[in-house]
Amino acid sequence: MSVLDVLVWPAKVLETKAVPVTHFDDALKAFVTNMFDTMLDSGGIGLAANQVGDLRRVVVIEIPWAESKYADQEEKREPWHNKRWVLINPEITKKAGKIRWQEGCLSFPEVYDFVDRAAEVWVKAFDEHGKLLEFHANDLFAVCIQHEIDHLDGIVFFQRMSRLKADIIKKKMLRRGLVNE
Ligand code: NI
Repeated sequence: MSVLDVLVWPAKVLETKAVPVTHFDDALKAFVTNMFDTMLDSGGIGLAANQVGDLRRVVVIEIPWAESKYADQEEKREPWHNKRWVLINPEITKKAGKIRWQEGCLSFPEVYDFVDRAAEVWVKAFDEHGKLLEFHANDLFAVCIQHEIDHLDGIVFFQRMSRLKADIIKKKMLRRGLVNE
């Protein structure tokens, strides 16, 4: 197991578009394992390879049911909860509806904001063995997939907020960075 360093904005790689995976080999499987270790260690529910400085289109997601705000209402549990999702070269083939969720990001510590996303998405991706996955996602899972695909496209959180809010947070983060140096 290896926990990788999670890069924080303004790391350039966060604003760089990742490239499709073409080789599904043991090195890729090991990388996916490290991504899960890193995500769990950081307490995140999703992680894109850009965030650990790698420009391959690889995303991992695991959304714990126990942390859901509906965890006391078993009927709201979805089949995607508590499942390890590996999404390589993911594509959204169809979207429907609208949802607004307060999102956070491991690359933007202590920053949370409401982002508008599609409420449902239909996804095509490959797992780490090169097997094609086609599935439908709703609720937090749909939000998470759209957030992670943004990372792969080099789109950061700021581009989904109001410009005013983004400017305030950018200044705060840059100031914090300077103080830490
Ligand atoms: Ni993120």
